Formats: sequence, C-alpha cells, structure tokens
Amino acid sequence: MNKILILNGSPVKNGNTAKLISWFAQEARVKGARVKIVRAASLASKVNGCMSCRACQKMPKYECVVKDDVNDVLKEMQKADVIVFATPLYFYGPSAQLKLIIDRMFSLYKWDNKTDTFTSPMRGKAMGLILSAYEDIGLKAVEESFKLIADYSQMSFSSLLVPDARESGEVEKIKGIRGRARDFAQKIAAAA
Ligand SMILES: Cc1cc2nc3c(=O)[nH]c(=O)nc-3n(C[C@H](O)[C@H](O)[C@H](O)COP(=O)(O)O)c2cc1C
Repeated sequence: MNKILILNGSPVKNGNTAKLISWFAQEARVKGARVKIVRAASLASKVNGCMSCRACQKMPKYECVVKDDVNDVLKEMQKADVIVFATPLYFYGPSAQLKLIIDRMFSLYKWDNKTDTFTSPMRGKAMGLILSAYEDIGLKAVEESFKLIADYSQMSFSSLLVPDARESGEVEKIKGIRGRARDFAQKIAAAA
C-alpha cells in the first residue's frame, strides 16, 4: 500500500488547493493508498526556513537540528512513498508557507564534497505537484523548479496544473476539474 503525504501550502482552509486535495485524496484512498495531509500554514512551531547552519551534514541521521513542527514533517516525508506538494501560485512561485518546508529538506541530503555525490532517503520516491493559479502564466516555470528537485533527488515526477482557479473556492467552477484531480490521483497512486 502506498503512503502518500500531501503538503498543503495554502493558507486558505477551504480554498482551491484544499478542494483539489480533497478530490485527489478521496480517489487515492479508493485506490488503496494511505493518505496524510499536512497544512503548512497551521504548523504551530516553525523557524523561518533553513538557517544554513549545516549541522545536519555532520550527523548520521536525516534530521534537522531545529526541533520544531517542520522537523516532524521531514520525518513524515521519509516514511512516505509519495510526496505531493500542493500550493497556490504566489507571485510566480510556491507559497512561502510551503517554501519554508522545502528549504528545510536540506537535512534530507548528505553531501560528500570529495566525491561530489549525495545520499538521500528521497531517492526512489514519487513526487507530485498540485498547482493552481488565477492565470496560466508562471505555472510551467514553477512546475520546472519542482521537476528539477525531483530529477536531482532521483524521484519520479508528475503534476496537475490548474489555471483559471481565480478566487479561493472558484476552482469548482472549472469544467471537468474533479475528473482531472481523480485521474491525477490514480496516476500518482500507481507511481511509487
Ligand atoms: C499573495 C498571492 C499571490 C498570488 N499570485 C498569483 C500569481 O502570481 N499568478 C496567478 O495567476 N495567481 C496568483 N494568485 C492567485 C492564486 O494563485 C489562486 O487564486 C489560487 O488558486 C488560490 O489557491 P487557494 O484558494 O488554495 O489559496 C495569488 C494570490 C495571492 C493571495
């Protein structure tokens, strides 16, 4: 059974991202996956991104030395077969709430500068991206940056890009969107 971890980067509780996630998660569960959803915006304790202290590189565990809620998310990421990043497009990037978690993923890689190699528990997992926005400008650019992370980490990658999502909640008005979210879930559930 695949374990899917969804990281919801939207600060809006019942907005477009939450709706896309709910359709996706419902279908993934039907397909037998175990789905866990984490709202980045509601993590109680978090520092502002990676401090670049590099202490994680000096210890054997894949763990951040900052013991906050993001560190717990990093542990969940290691247990998952599939990690889905779900975010609204904010100024042609992911939301800051999600980016904060992504930068802390530094601790999930151990680099060996002598051989220019790294080890990581991310290797072999699947990455999904659910990205919605008012218009389609910028969706491909952000998709590309997530794909670069997946390629670098040797993870498979697939995405659901949703333009015309407009105001929070309006994603429901897009024709055929539930079906697209369900199809994406089926693809992802089979990916890992
Ligand atoms: C701070 C902020 C920045 C945004 N930047 C963009 C943008 O650059 N391009 C775009 O098409 N939509 C932009 N939007 C619109 C959202 O991406 C879009 O409405 C999204 O579907 C909202 O998802 P949510 O309801 O889950 O928060 C922005 C919205 C906010 C609040």
